[in-house]
Amino acid sequence: MDAADLKWWQNTIAYEIYVKSFKDSDGDGIGDLNGITSELDHLKELGVGAVWLTPCYVSPQVDNGYDIADYYNIDSAYGTMEDMDRLIAEAKKRDIRIVMDLVFNHTSDENEWFKESRSGRDNDKSDWYIWADPKEDGSAPTNWRSIFGGSAWEYDKTRGQYYLHTFHRKQPDLNWENPKVRAAVTDVAKFWRDKGVGGFRMDAITYIKKPSEYKDGTPDASDGMTGIHPITANTPGILDFLHEFRSAVCEGYDIFTVGEADGITAQDLKYWVGEHGVFDMVFEFGLVNIDLPDPANWCDRRMWGLRELKAFFSESIREADAAGGWFPVFLENHDQPRSINHFMPESGSRDAKAKALATLLLTMRGTPFIMQGEELGFVNVDWSSIDEYDDIFTKNHYAFALEEGYTKEEAIESVRLFSRDSSRTPMQWDATENAGFTSGTPWLPVYPDYMAYNRRSEKEAADSILNYYIALARLRSGHKELIDGSYEEIMPEDESIFAFIRKDADRKAVVLINFKDEKVSYAPEYVKDAECIMSSTGSAQKGMLAPFEAVIYEEDII
Ligand code: GLC
Repeated sequence: MDAADLKWWQNTIAYEIYVKSFKDSDGDGIGDLNGITSELDHLKELGVGAVWLTPCYVSPQVDNGYDIADYYNIDSAYGTMEDMDRLIAEAKKRDIRIVMDLVFNHTSDENEWFKESRSGRDNDKSDWYIWADPKEDGSAPTNWRSIFGGSAWEYDKTRGQYYLHTFHRKQPDLNWENPKVRAAVTDVAKFWRDKGVGGFRMDAITYIKKPSEYKDGTPDASDGMTGIHPITANTPGILDFLHEFRSAVCEGYDIFTVGEADGITAQDLKYWVGEHGVFDMVFEFGLVNIDLPDPANWCDRRMWGLRELKAFFSESIREADAAGGWFPVFLENHDQPRSINHFMPESGSRDAKAKALATLLLTMRGTPFIMQGEELGFVNVDWSSIDEYDDIFTKNHYAFALEEGYTKEEAIESVRLFSRDSSRTPMQWDATENAGFTSGTPWLPVYPDYMAYNRRSEKEAADSILNYYIALARLRSGHKELIDGSYEEIMPEDESIFAFIRKDADRKAVVLINFKDEKVSYAPEYVKDAECIMSSTGSAQKGMLAPFEAVIYEEDII
C-alpha cells in the first residue's frame, strides 16, 4: 500500500480535545468552542488533521458531558451551534476535520427520551431504555455493579421498576433492541455527518447489546455484587446493530469511525475493523489495562514488562492489517493516567521519557491520537486528599477501595496513579496566571508546573518536548514509510528496547526506543548502513542508547 492510497484519516495525526479544559474564551473557567477555534494553529503546527472533541452537547455534566440531555444542541457552557459551525469551517480552512463523540450506550436521565420513558409503563418511549421488575423482595433485578461503582440498577417509583445504567445512575442505558432507538441514534449521527464533520468516536460501544436473560453473577467483592463489564461487553449479536449503523451512516461518505471497544481483543479485530468490520478503527484496552488484572480495582495492580507492551502493539497491528483494517495508536486519553507515569519508570528525566513515548506514538503503524497536553509532557496530578478530585469515577473508586478494606493510604495512592482528573487539568498555554487557560477561576486546578511546561515556553526552547513532537510530525510527512510502511518488530525479547522496522518499497526506517533509565546496547548491524534521521538526544551513537533515548535510522532499499 502506498501513502497515496491511504484515506485522509490514515495519513494524518489525530488529537483529542477535552473541551472543558482546552481554552476558555469567556472567563467562566470552562473551556469552550470559541477557545478551540482560537488555538487551531497550535494543532496545525503539530500536523493534526482530525480533532476529536469530547461531548459538547447539552448535558447536566454529571460525567462532564458523557451524560447527554440533547444531542442536537450545544451546551451553553461551551457555546452555540453557530460557534460549532464556525469551528468546523475554520478547522476545514486548515485542513482539519472535527470528529464528534457519539455517546449512544446511554443518555442523561434529563434527556426528553428518558423523561417520557420513565413517565409510566405505557407511553411511546416506554421501552426505549432497559427496564426490569424488582426481585420478589423488592431488590434490584440482578447483583450487577456499575462501572462507576454501586448497583447498576436504579429504582423508579412511578414505574415501580428498575432501569439499568452501565455507568452512573444519571446515565440510563438505551435499549438498542428497539428499532426506534436505533433509528433515533442513526438520525443523530446523520445530523452531525451532514454538518460536515470528519468522523465519529463511538463511546462505550461494546456495551450496547445486553444478554437476553438477566441473571445474578458470582459476587467478586464484599458488596455481594459482580462487575457488569464481563456480563454485558461484546454480547453476541452486537455486530448486527453496528453493521446496520455503518451502512446507514457511513457508506458513501468520506468520514471515519473509531469505536471505544473495552472487551475487544486483537483476535476479535477481524469482526470489528476492515472490509467486514463495523468501524474503521477501534481503541482496544489491552495496553492501558496492562497493570490492572481487574480495571475496576485500581488497588490491585500487577507488575508488567516491556515485552508485554511490545506484544500488544505487534499483535494488534498484525490482526488489524490481516483484516484489512487500521490501528489507532494511543497512549493516553481523557480516562487514563498520563503516559509518562503509566508506562515509564519513576526515575529519570521527564523530558527524555516524554520524547521516547512521542517517538513510539508517531512512528508506529496506524493513526496516532495525541491527548491534549501529551505534546507538552503533562504528568499525573499529585493531590493528597480525595476532596481535591472532581471525577465521579475517582470519588466512587476511593469509597469502594475503603469498603473493600484497603487503607486510606492505599486508596489515595491508587487514585494518584489512575484518577481520570490527571488527563483533564487545564491546558497550559503560557506562563501567565492560570497558564493562559482562563481569565476566571479554572473549573479544575491548573497543574503547578505550568511556568515551565506550557505551549509558549516550550515553543521557544529548541529542545523542548513540544518541538520534538513538531519535528516528528514533519519527519513523518517527508518519510512516508513511517506512515504507509509495513511494521515488523525486532528484538521482541529485549526488556529495555522497543525496536521495529517500518518499510515501504523505497525505504526502510529502524526505530529504537530505550524504556530504561540506563544506558543500553544493541547489535549495531541493525543500523549498519543506515543514516540517523532523528535522535531525541541529538547525539545518537550506533549500537548504544542513552537513558530513554529514541532514535530513527533510515536507508534506501536498492
Ligand atoms: C467512556 C468515556 C468516559 C465516560 C464513559 C461513560 O468510557 O470515555 O469518559 O465516563 O464512557 O460515558
